[in-house]
Amino acid sequence: MSKDLAISRLQTLRHQLQDHAYRYYVLAEPALPDADYDALFQELLAIEAKFPELITADSPSQRVGASSDSAFTPVTHQVPMLSLDNVFNAEDWQAFDRRVRDRIDWQLAVGVPYACEPKFDGLAVSLRYEQGVLVQAATRGDGQVGEDITANVRTISSVPLRLQGSNPPALLEVRGEVVMPRSGFEQLNQRQLAQNEKPFANPRNAAAGALRQLDASITAKRPLDFYAYAIAAIDGMPWPATHSLSLRTLKQFGFRISDLAQSGNGVDFVQRCWQQLLAQRNQLDFDIDGMVIKVDDRSLQLSLGFVSRAPRWAVAYKFPAEEKTTTLLAVDFQVGRTGAITPVARLAPVNLGGVMVSNATLHNMDEINRLDLRPGDTVIVRRAGDVIPKVTGRVDDEAHQQRAIVTLPSHCPVCDSAVSRIEGEVVARCTAGLFCPAQRKERLRHFASRRAMDIEGLGEKWVDLLVEAGLLHSSADIYQLSKEQLLSLPRMGEKSADNLIAAISRSRETTLPRFLYSLGIPDVGETTALQLAGQFGSLKALLAADEAALLATPDVGPVVAKAILDFLSEPHNQQVIQALCDAGVRWQDQTARQDIAQPLAGQTWVLTGTLSGMTRDEATDKLRSLGAKVSGSVSAKTAVVVSGDAAGSKLDKALSLGVTVWDESALTAFFAEQGL
Ligand code: IVH
Repeated sequence: MSKDLAISRLQTLRHQLQDHAYRYYVLAEPALPDADYDALFQELLAIEAKFPELITADSPSQRVGASSDSAFTPVTHQVPMLSLDNVFNAEDWQAFDRRVRDRIDWQLAVGVPYACEPKFDGLAVSLRYEQGVLVQAATRGDGQVGEDITANVRTISSVPLRLQGSNPPALLEVRGEVVMPRSGFEQLNQRQLAQNEKPFANPRNAAAGALRQLDASITAKRPLDFYAYAIAAIDGMPWPATHSLSLRTLKQFGFRISDLAQSGNGVDFVQRCWQQLLAQRNQLDFDIDGMVIKVDDRSLQLSLGFVSRAPRWAVAYKFPAEEKTTTLLAVDFQVGRTGAITPVARLAPVNLGGVMVSNATLHNMDEINRLDLRPGDTVIVRRAGDVIPKVTGRVDDEAHQQRAIVTLPSHCPVCDSAVSRIEGEVVARCTAGLFCPAQRKERLRHFASRRAMDIEGLGEKWVDLLVEAGLLHSSADIYQLSKEQLLSLPRMGEKSADNLIAAISRSRETTLPRFLYSLGIPDVGETTALQLAGQFGSLKALLAADEAALLATPDVGPVVAKAILDFLSEPHNQQVIQALCDAGVRWQDQTARQDIAQPLAGQTWVLTGTLSGMTRDEATDKLRSLGAKVSGSVSAKTAVVVSGDAAGSKLDKALSLGVTVWDESALTAFFAEQGL
């Protein structure tokens, strides 16, 4: 690199680093993943190492971070809060160890004693205890001057307000990290979304936001933890001889210490610890971004000393980053098993935490709109705790405004049926529940389930096999299955096939509530199905219902009404319902509550003798559905006596009282008139 090129590159790098440091430390709203920031910083250091004459006093390499905001009182650190140099691979780590050995002229056969511990991905905080009492908590700020956040830190339960033990040192300054556990972070973000607030991109941002609250009672509601990792100053007590002993001392004082800390000798021991910690990373309840390695002996630390911004006796051995930037190539839409349409980000492949990632979830349209994501944008992708990668942010650039925005497709990408999104709901759905291949298995399983059409033996396993064999497309196909087709399935025996055919056949005889429930209309469970059947009495009446009619049904609000209308008006669904009826699926219609004008309301009817075209029970049900009371004895108040074959004393009594008497054909004709 020529000197001219170095000058201009340094200028760009310093400008970028300064801007990002301000966003990170002052605004607590980082615009760039750490790994990218690190990369820029490393580049700056490399160029400055080559051209030391170009180092300026205001270069980011000459100080740590940016100056603090004025909202909190500034605190000058008695002992500066330094940062750590990073190594990214075994070779760099070995080079660090070699430098340590060279500097202290290490001649022993065993390696240097090192202490290894997680590098917490949180916020560095310094705590000052006088006579055992917490008197001040401060952020790191630029390393020299931080901010007083005592009130906020006091709300963190893992921070002792008073040191344990009867003989505390006159002064103790403790350094450690405030972190937000992943579990608490997920809950906090759910609450944020529920209250229409912006979710946090990661636990560290959430922790930073919590510590920057002017009202400490808000901080108190945030799940924060504090892990102590160093003693910065101690008075009235000798310094522990090693870092490991410091940690044990801190533990005795009542601090939380990582139980993943270990100590041992030499470069290979450390490499094994790193490998081990990397493997444990996903199981932890908090984010770590590497392992901090410290020369364990305090006397060795003192002889190694410091360079401008970091100790020579400690280093951060970083893990592969879990958060990086990459290009958003496209947004595709996938259809879930229940019809939910979810956007998926297609990304330029990027290595996240050691895994190549080229897809990430975007949750829903609200998320895309909130982040204003457009194909071509540079986005921040995060994959932490072994979870599915997600897009958490976007890096602004000039071309962004010119890029095309993402819109929700109006038709299902799988089956081309209409997509519906209910006002105020986050999920958009494909409305063709009975038809859409993406929803097929799930719908069929539901259709056949015990509380729906109750097809015994048609469980998940056979549904999957039948769909995969191309024998089932929609629920109506179930009624076309032949024994031969069933026998073509692997492990289907003669007897099972017979049983399944018989169960399918039996299921044709059902009830309207069961049938409605089996359709799997979104938001229509068993109770709503029962209410709808009661309200409309027949499928025909339900199919003809408009929104107002649906809203008159108990338990049906606007959301459910819309789901029902969308479902029943989708032609693909109508075809399947028709095919089911054509296949012989049938039920007894009921009295519709909605038909307020019940023609027989207030009347008492009596059935006597044997009916030939229907059973007495059927006739009773139909009469009741029309509002009549059906009684066993005739009186002057009886409206009509229906007289079948071999009628006896009741017919005589009716005739003597002058009560109207019908024969079966009159009744049948009347039922027909009523549409029964
Ligand atoms: S010791 C003089 N130990 O890493 C050494 N730092 O780049 C001071 N960090 O902002 C640091 N975990 O907040 C140390 N176990 C650990 C750490 C740790 C995280 C952070 C610290 C600081 C940064 C240094």
